[in-house]
Amino acid sequence: LILIVDFGSQVTQLIARRLRESGVYCEIHPFNQLDGDRLAALAPKGVILSGGPASVLDAGSPRAPEALWTLGVPVLGICYGQQTMVEQLGGKVAPHDVREFGRAYLNVGAKHPLFDGLAEVGASEQVWMSHGDSVAEIPEGFHIIATSPGAPFAAIADDARRFYAVQFHPEVHHTPNGRLILKNFTHNVCGLTGDWTMAAYRDEAIAKIRAQVGDKKVICGLSGGVDSSVAAVLIHEAIGDQLTCVFVDTGMMRLDEAEQVVTLFRDHYNIPLVAADESDLFLGELAGVTDPELKRKTIGRLFIDVFDKHAAEAGGADFLAQGTLYPDVIESVSFSGGPSVTIKSHHNVGGLPEHMKMQLVEPLRELFKDEVRALGRELGLPESFIGRHPFPGPGLAIRCPGEVTRAKLDTLRKADAIYLDQIRKHGLYDEIWQAFAVLLPVQTVGVMGDGRTYESVLALRAVTSVDGMTADYYPFPHEFLGETATRIIGEVKGVNRVVYDVTSKPPGTIEWE
Ligand code: XMP
Repeated sequence: LILIVDFGSQVTQLIARRLRESGVYCEIHPFNQLDGDRLAALAPKGVILSGGPASVLDAGSPRAPEALWTLGVPVLGICYGQQTMVEQLGGKVAPHDVREFGRAYLNVGAKHPLFDGLAEVGASEQVWMSHGDSVAEIPEGFHIIATSPGAPFAAIADDARRFYAVQFHPEVHHTPNGRLILKNFTHNVCGLTGDWTMAAYRDEAIAKIRAQVGDKKVICGLSGGVDSSVAAVLIHEAIGDQLTCVFVDTGMMRLDEAEQVVTLFRDHYNIPLVAADESDLFLGELAGVTDPELKRKTIGRLFIDVFDKHAAEAGGADFLAQGTLYPDVIESVSFSGGPSVTIKSHHNVGGLPEHMKMQLVEPLRELFKDEVRALGRELGLPESFIGRHPFPGPGLAIRCPGEVTRAKLDTLRKADAIYLDQIRKHGLYDEIWQAFAVLLPVQTVGVMGDGRTYESVLALRAVTSVDGMTADYYPFPHEFLGETATRIIGEVKGVNRVVYDVTSKPPGTIEWE
């Protein structure tokens, strides 16, 4: 085990992720929940101190537990972690006149086990900096192993005590060799071999769920998406039929999706499942609603009511399981109470009413999307579920600008299925973050056979993205677009024109509403 002491950096989880990528098991613990006993109990083979938003110069700012320095294991401090290490071990930190944010070039000053495989001594190495304060004087026993123009103590080491510290962030993408530096720390310095796997994660997650839930009951809302599916299967492995899943068919799902969910969970996994077709209710309430925000809010509100009702019918539960991922956690933390504007009201199973008062089981809270997929594979979920593009909570309702009706949804479902079939046939599905059709509330004139048509326009959308926060349109070959348009117009009644959306995000959003 490598212990990561969290000082509240936005990217602490990335440290964990990088370690897991090189096969190292780690746990993140907040700095203020660690003392000598806890450290001894965890018995880490090495410790990493994360970055953080505070300044060590401020009174009452966070510190590493004192017992850490006599534990006898290697410690690596990153950014704030470096500064607190320096401060605690007798060096000095000062506000720096040049605040450094962004790309910087490290001058590797010494051959060191931490730098195995990096640039030669004297050469430079790209790193990512983000700091206001800097080390001004290193504690006794330390020496400099790398400098940068803005940070003369960019990397320091006390090889006798095996304490190391860097001002830059090795965990972020913009430090290209950062992963290697972390691996050098865990492998070369701490002596780990990197034999930890997703199978091991699964076993640990199962043990944690059992410990949290005991013999109590858990309810889990399924959406058909990867996250809730993986969470449900994992929890079922842990506690068997103490878990009940609830699947609400809002009528806004894609073609055959509802059946696929029921077949997979009820028949294949034998998980107790309440599947409710509530499409009449949802469509009834959406009648006449054209405003996108009102659509989202209506669906969100109904979803909670309906979920609540079916959960109660299923006998209630003490815990609510959610497929919350780490990126959701960071977003909700960093934006809570902040001055951010609501672009769209996102709807998840999240905002359940007060009276349900269930505790949350969130076994995926530490994982990134691709890690959830790896865990899903480990649990034997079919590839068709695991590789699925994201799908919004309000479903096809926000892909039908204007009023949503059953007839429009049926048309959209058929067209969408053909579009996705085309993408799969051309082997493009996995290159695309998300692809879907949008049925426009616009009719245009066409000619088919000898007759005039006056039918709907369908827009196709496909984007590439890393996290959904920014996106670019996918550059399909023209032949692909032409062939797909021909198929859709030929096979779907009511559509006589197809257009392709070439807007990036920003300024567009991925969904149309
Ligand atoms: P936008 O349209 O805001 O979408 O660029 C970004 C990503 O979020 C998905 N999305 C949602 N997901 N509930 C969700 O769970 C929602 O209400 C919701 N709205 C948008 C969207 O599909 C894209 O992947």
